[in-house]
Amino acid sequence: MILITGGAGYIGSHVNKELSRKGYDTIVLDNLVHGHEESVKWGKLVKGDLSDEDLLDDIFGNNDIEAVMHFAAYAYVGESVEDPQKYYLNNVKNALNLLKALNASDTRHFIFSSTCATYGVPEEVPITEDHSQKPVNPYGRGKLMIERVLRDYSEAYGLKYASLRYFNAAGADPGTEIGEDHDPETHLIPLVLAAASGARENVEIYGTDYPTPDGTCVRDYIHVSDLAGAHIKALENLKRTSQSDVFNLGNGNGFSVREVISAAEKVTGSKINAVEAPRRPGDPAVLVGSAQKAREILGWQPRYDDLSAIIETAWKWHKKNR
Ligand SMILES: NC(=O)c1ccc[n+]([C@@H]2O[C@H](COP(=O)([O-])OP(=O)(O)OC[C@H]3O[C@@H](n4cnc5c(N)ncnc54)[C@H](O)[C@@H]3O)[C@@H](O)[C@H]2O)c1
Repeated sequence: MILITGGAGYIGSHVNKELSRKGYDTIVLDNLVHGHEESVKWGKLVKGDLSDEDLLDDIFGNNDIEAVMHFAAYAYVGESVEDPQKYYLNNVKNALNLLKALNASDTRHFIFSSTCATYGVPEEVPITEDHSQKPVNPYGRGKLMIERVLRDYSEAYGLKYASLRYFNAAGADPGTEIGEDHDPETHLIPLVLAAASGARENVEIYGTDYPTPDGTCVRDYIHVSDLAGAHIKALENLKRTSQSDVFNLGNGNGFSVREVISAAEKVTGSKINAVEAPRRPGDPAVLVGSAQKAREILGWQPRYDDLSAIIETAWKWHKKNR
């Protein structure tokens, strides 16, 4: 049995699907603050909060949990700057609660949703795992703290972990059973698609004077089903080698905001009203990761390296659900 915290959310629900497709039993713990009950289509759902230590002990005590995949967290960078306490309590303190319950149990394998935000402003791209980690916001700092905690706990308690540093998760389940539905939505592709379908009037481009080919920010978009596949590979690697490690999960290709908008116009056949706005503080010009290590050590092979193909899956899901 695999415990998936935050399994009613965007990435966790796709991993839940992939785990069950591979024959794993799953149990999702989610407080549904940002998740959706209808996204838990596989395994069992426990509605509850990571701050509830008794509940965590019950879950570990009453289920034969071979590994934990920990997605539950808040993930709005801007909000983390305005209300850091909210982020440290949920993303750090609640993660420590989870690890405490795990340490008291027989479970030894832990897969952690970390982020490229732990790197801060890149000194060179593509970013590799040994790039310095100097996060520039409380969201990134909280995630980095848990990476460090995992390192200490693995040395002291024999916990085996994989910290997976995702770049921008994008797209939706090609079977359109689940997709991206954040509220509020801050991710570019769903915003662009909402503008294409008329659900939003426009989409804002934050900054058009970056030192990039078209002046807009460049990001690395990784398909959520490819991310899901990487979690299974990371779990299998932990079981096989008992070797804790850290992996970037990205495409290695960068796409600018304008490139995303123009690809979405082609996929949807609609004109998208893009409005130029000032830069947002703390947005690096280019964030692109090297996932060479995950390819080599985990044998991970992302299927979607084409931006249009990624957007197409998101668009299919958007049309079905909106
Ligand atoms: N989406 C991305 O591009 C991206 C990039 C890098 C890292 N991440 C990380 O991946 C993870 C998943 O991201 P997502 O986009 O799927 O977010 P999401 O908000 O869709 O999913 C998070 C889930 O966790 C649940 N949750 C939050 N706090 C909880 C608590 N205290 N107890 C129980 N459940 C709780 C929410 O209800 C939600 O269902 C997060 O840890 C995020 O920081 C995401």
